[in-house]
Amino acid sequence: MGDCENSATHVLVTGGAGYIGSHTCVSLLEAGYRVTIVDNFSNAKPSVIDDINSIAGTNVALYTLDLRDKAALERCFDDNKFDAVIHFAGLKAVGESVAKPLEYYDNNLIGTIALLDVMKRSGVKRLVFSSSATVYGVRNPVPFSEEGAELSPINPYGWTKAMIEQILRDLAASDPEWSICLLRYFNPISAHPGGRIGEAPDGVPNNLVPYVADVAAGRREKVYVFGDDYDTPDGTGVRDYLHVVDLAEGHIAALEYAREHTGAEAINLGTGVGYSVLEIIHAYEKACGHAIPYQVTPRRPGDSAFCYADTAKAQRLLGWKAKRGLAEMCEDSWRFAKNLAANTKLYNNT
Ligand code: NAD
Ligand code: UFG
Repeated sequence: MGDCENSATHVLVTGGAGYIGSHTCVSLLEAGYRVTIVDNFSNAKPSVIDDINSIAGTNVALYTLDLRDKAALERCFDDNKFDAVIHFAGLKAVGESVAKPLEYYDNNLIGTIALLDVMKRSGVKRLVFSSSATVYGVRNPVPFSEEGAELSPINPYGWTKAMIEQILRDLAASDPEWSICLLRYFNPISAHPGGRIGEAPDGVPNNLVPYVADVAAGRREKVYVFGDDYDTPDGTGVRDYLHVVDLAEGHIAALEYAREHTGAEAINLGTGVGYSVLEIIHAYEKACGHAIPYQVTPRRPGDSAFCYADTAKAQRLLGWKAKRGLAEMCEDSWRFAKNLAANTKLYNNT
């Protein structure tokens, strides 16, 4: 990682009230950055802003607006002088994107283009973008490497990420003043160690770890393991799970890298280590101190056997490496799940 920027650096965080955004805001504030959040609260609760302020002992500025409302976004840029933008805002549920592709293309693409246009007009040309390992699709060999990969997503959500990456590469090629990091996240999980912010999806969780947390807390009966006939050591799917606080710190490293380098760079953020579904369940059992029931069901359509990162580029360019292991990820996740249960009284077995 390069030298830290001075405390006057002002970062606009779109989607800063969301899961990864809220953790990144805390890390930015703790590192001395000034932070302004833009969010439409389509997938976040306004109370998270108090949580961010309370954890970091400071105050973020908030603009409640939709990125596609360009006039409102322009007013936000007129009010402030931003040095950089971290762009998290977007819809992210794979299954929903298959059912509602137009909503995904509209929100993710139109929102991003509006943001880029306003940034360009305001002369703010440093950007860190939330891409995803989903852009690697199923045709590339694991571990997924940024170099030489053929981007082949298999759902509309993934295509929005691949298309935005292309737009950003074209933008950087059109104007040498842009500095853009395209961060391809693997599987972010867990929560801030204080247990106050974390991932709390509405309804039935789509992702493994929030589902396991629900079962551990007694809110759901058992975990459904989607297939045990993959060509993996125990037959269940293998993924690169990454602590969300490590991921947050990766954004600061990217922000600093982009301060010193122009162009557009795609960079994987993962640990490089894969764990199976059963390994996750057993690690979580250790964290919560009791058995987690599960049942094997057929494979989920679109899932692959393996997905994990080649992390060499992140280490080389950003000097960033994930520090937190699986036991810590499960402990921090469980602390947040217990607090959520206590606060919402939705759980019955904690
Ligand atoms: P999240 O849904 O918790 O956060 C996204 C935030 O953006 C929410 O607070 C939502 O209200 C806001 N938002 C959405 N559309 C908006 C719009 N048009 N205008 C203003 N605000 C808007 O999601 P997250 O898990 O924190 O993910 C953040 C980013 O990282 C997303 O772009 C997502 O696609 C990407 N990503 C997430 C994962 C993951 O597993 N969580 C993996 C890879 C990539
Ligand atoms: N799984 C189960 N049961 C569940 C949920 C998941 O067995 O209830 C399995 C899946 O089959 C897979 C693994 O757990 O093998 C992880 O599944 P997730 O849904 O948690 O994560 P994915 O790897 O499928 O996808 C996530 C994000 C995507 C992102 C991708 C990038 O949801 O948005 O990581 O790697 F694109």
